[in-house]
Amino acid sequence: MCGIVGYTGKKQAQDYLLAGLAALEYRGYDSAGIDVLSGDGELHGVKCAGRVAALVERCRTANLVGNTGIAHTRWATHGAPTDRNAHPHLDCSGRIAIVHNGIIENFQELRAYLARAGHTLRSDTDSEVIAHLVEDAWNGPAKGDLVSAVRYACKRLQGTWALAVVCADAPGQVVVARKGSPLVVASTPDGAYAASDVTPLATVTSHVIQLDDDQLARLSQDGSVVVYDADGTVVEHPSTLDIDWDASAATLGGYPDFMAKEINEQPEAIERLLHDRLGEHGIEMDELNMTAEELASVDRIYLVACGTSYHVCLIARAMIEDWAKIPVFCEYASELNYKEPLVTDHTLCVIVTQSGETADTLTAARRMKGLGCKVFAVTNVLGSTAARESDGTLYVQAGPEICVCSTKAYTAQMVACSLLALRLALANGQMDQTEVERHFRNLQAMPALIREVISRRWQDQEASRLFRSAHSALFLGRGVNSTTAYEGALKLKEVSYLHAEAYPAGEMKHGPIALLEPGFPVVAIVPADHVHDKTVSNIQEVIARGATCIAVATDGDEKIAKLCDNVLWIPPVPEEYLVPIVAIVHLQMLARYVAIARGCDVDKPRNLAKSVTVE
Ligand code: F6R
Repeated sequence: MCGIVGYTGKKQAQDYLLAGLAALEYRGYDSAGIDVLSGDGELHGVKCAGRVAALVERCRTANLVGNTGIAHTRWATHGAPTDRNAHPHLDCSGRIAIVHNGIIENFQELRAYLARAGHTLRSDTDSEVIAHLVEDAWNGPAKGDLVSAVRYACKRLQGTWALAVVCADAPGQVVVARKGSPLVVASTPDGAYAASDVTPLATVTSHVIQLDDDQLARLSQDGSVVVYDADGTVVEHPSTLDIDWDASAATLGGYPDFMAKEINEQPEAIERLLHDRLGEHGIEMDELNMTAEELASVDRIYLVACGTSYHVCLIARAMIEDWAKIPVFCEYASELNYKEPLVTDHTLCVIVTQSGETADTLTAARRMKGLGCKVFAVTNVLGSTAARESDGTLYVQAGPEICVCSTKAYTAQMVACSLLALRLALANGQMDQTEVERHFRNLQAMPALIREVISRRWQDQEASRLFRSAHSALFLGRGVNSTTAYEGALKLKEVSYLHAEAYPAGEMKHGPIALLEPGFPVVAIVPADHVHDKTVSNIQEVIARGATCIAVATDGDEKIAKLCDNVLWIPPVPEEYLVPIVAIVHLQMLARYVAIARGCDVDKPRNLAKSVTVE
């Protein structure tokens, strides 16, 4: 949801700023802009609607020479994605520029106040007011100190922000501030850097400072960084983070797109996660930060997430309830935030969030914490807000996920939740060590099975032709694979813009069957499991109406081979609960092929952003 970067140092600011925007583009790509403070003491900028690539093109002839600057890639909230609404925004004098990620909730009052005070606002955004508030403070109580000016401005704001500010009269400085939106800064011999997250910084340093809410920082041209609290007092020991991501992990490395790369990275991600997890006493999960007694006493679990991560929760619920016999409530964070959760003294709340920054999920977690629950995060992003605010965090270690739609984080999160289910089952005596080890060995089989499915990608490519003239598609599955159907439909619609719905297969006859007509594509997940024959009956109902069935079935299934012309085959999976981890890989590849055939940009679907930091 918008990405911001800032730099001051020895190098040309433009180089880092544009590369940084490209690395952060998954946070939004409605417009992009840059401002650089040049040797002539003026701010020079370029901004335009559209992708970072369009900005880079314009910058080629813009001659943005200078060592200090800020830049922004936007996911529009207030104001259309036009050139005029692109960041950076300037104050009236044109000597102060700001970039902002977040939402200023009281912007209408502030706009009215600023208009009365004689300011001319040029955009429709909530963000522009910040530039004018900094201007007022700079000319007033801050007496020409940029940190103070930003501090005064922030005091008037309600909402969330990660801000970077430059001022032509404060050369060699970038001031940043944070409340509710992520922001990291880094001090290096070459200069000082700021970014919405660590992705752009992985190429320049392995050590970053994470700003906490209400903190500000002054970045200076000598590379130093000083962090301040809301009162302007220097924070001597700000929180730091070592980045252990390989910078090359965020590059394409020969793949045509990040979606293809990340689908292929799933086996290694799961191997990393499982490494050293099985100990003498079961699943090693010290990250839970709970004693064996506390774990054994958990009597209710809330699983909370959004989107694809919510689908992980649906599968986790099945495993936890079956293995650990603990009742589980699965909630969309955006729904839970507006109802009363039924917590007991021993309720555990688990939030699942790839980015660790999803606003709805964070709000829900804070609420559950306020109600006395322990909150445990399953996340992919090191040092994310979810990780920092939770009582314990399990990192799924999938590596940077750049494609806006989630693939490798989804399967890694499912494996992480399986481990959690086993840990709970052992703690409360529902499973013994031998059983836990048996399930763990089954999890260890996942990478090889996924590799096998990936090697069958030609099946998905062929099946994608069946969607050529489709306007809609239906996904069906039973049990845990009704969730595979939900996730498959979500993948298809988000990357190919083809409408898709998903239902538990047994529900089709209660309504969705009316959609069926000759040629209508129905994807049915029908692995070798205890509900196989029931799903086969549903497939027969589909075929009887002339619709086109694409089955996801287990090798050797003769019934399906006879019944369906189009089958995406999966190898046998040793445990029913783990089938979704293998089956979804076909549906990820299918969605990608359909999207490519329809000319869609699979990595950056329209209207979406990777990190949804607004509620
Ligand atoms: C879909 C997708 C989204 C996210 C959702 C939550 O492919 O990626 O549905 O799952 O926005 O994001 P996180 O997991 O970062 O909380």
